[in-house]
Amino acid sequence: MKEKKSSVLIIGGTGRLGQHLAKFSLQLAHPTFLLVRDSAFTDPNKAQTLHFLSTAGATLLKGSLEDDESLIKAVKQVDVVICAIPSRQVLDQRLLIRVIKQVGSIKRFIPSEFGADPVKTQISDLDCNFYSRKAEIRRLIEAEGIPYTYICCNFFMSYLLPGLVQPGLKTPPTVKITIFGNGTAKGVFVKESDVAAFTISTVDDPRTSNKVLYLRPPGNIISMNELVEVWESKTGKKLEKIYVPEEELLKIIRETPYPNNMDMIFIYSAFVKGDHTYFDIESSVGVEGTQLYPHLEYTTISKHLDTLL
Ligand SMILES: NC(=O)c1ccc[n+]([C@@H]2O[C@H](COP(=O)([O-])OP(=O)(O)OC[C@H]3O[C@@H](n4cnc5c(N)ncnc54)[C@H](OP(=O)(O)O)[C@@H]3O)[C@@H](O)[C@H]2O)c1
Repeated sequence: MKEKKSSVLIIGGTGRLGQHLAKFSLQLAHPTFLLVRDSAFTDPNKAQTLHFLSTAGATLLKGSLEDDESLIKAVKQVDVVICAIPSRQVLDQRLLIRVIKQVGSIKRFIPSEFGADPVKTQISDLDCNFYSRKAEIRRLIEAEGIPYTYICCNFFMSYLLPGLVQPGLKTPPTVKITIFGNGTAKGVFVKESDVAAFTISTVDDPRTSNKVLYLRPPGNIISMNELVEVWESKTGKKLEKIYVPEEELLKIIRETPYPNNMDMIFIYSAFVKGDHTYFDIESSVGVEGTQLYPHLEYTTISKHLDTLL
């Protein structure tokens, strides 16, 4: 007999990542609930997403992270809660964590992380509270004894890759390219829909209970030097390479006001400090997604670059 699929509540189902989470949850036959704010229905794009998802079988529940009654009602109906709210709001998950604790029946909570591992990054004084807030949420979840999975997918493919890791650029440069540091540290890019597929696969998987799921798919791990090489071989054109040493990048970051310096901070973290890949995954703490789910197909960096030609 097939195991019953856990029911899943997604908070942030109208968002960039959240809509993919909702789609995969439905696709993998999880009874799927979305907590939706009233305002989402008045935004034409979000209303369309919600119409699509509800037609596909999602149950829409009105509520928000600030409204404890709506949270209690929603959390009571499901086995698993996944939160995909924007990073600047991660501390707004504190009420949700209290509600999950109070309701007491949640089998898995996946908080809004979906980036580099917040306890492994090495950018301490440049953090701008980005990773420290995510780490604070981890401490709260663990202190309450709530079963969790943290998803460390590293960079989304729509972030930085379309501009070949040039701050502020949305399309590949055609003449010159800036390489930060010596260009050898390796970062990881994963397409949002693939992040969602790996995330939903963890929901009923005991191997991911109280673990970090890292995504380091072969074909998706690349240094800036390699990225330029791959791009040049695809276009058949050489780019002029300008190397910006670590000290110079740090100076620019410090002189650029927040939040305009955030792209450079993320580049510094991934492609100078190597924060996506400098450490081995300890089996007591984490698991790697493509090793757990070898059947899942994903978009490689090379395939994604082909779409930019
Ligand atoms: N690794 C990367 O490169 C990368 C890049 C971007 C984001 N991320 C991560 O991905 C996660 C999701 O980010 P995103 O960019 O997908 O977010 P997003 O597109 O901004 O979507 C945010 C969602 O959260 C909902 N929301 C916000 N405040 C809420 C509240 N108080 N109550 C209920 N719902 C609320 C929004 O609902 P409404 O429709 O009502 O506004 C929306 O559905 C974050 O953890 C972020 O750090 C990672």
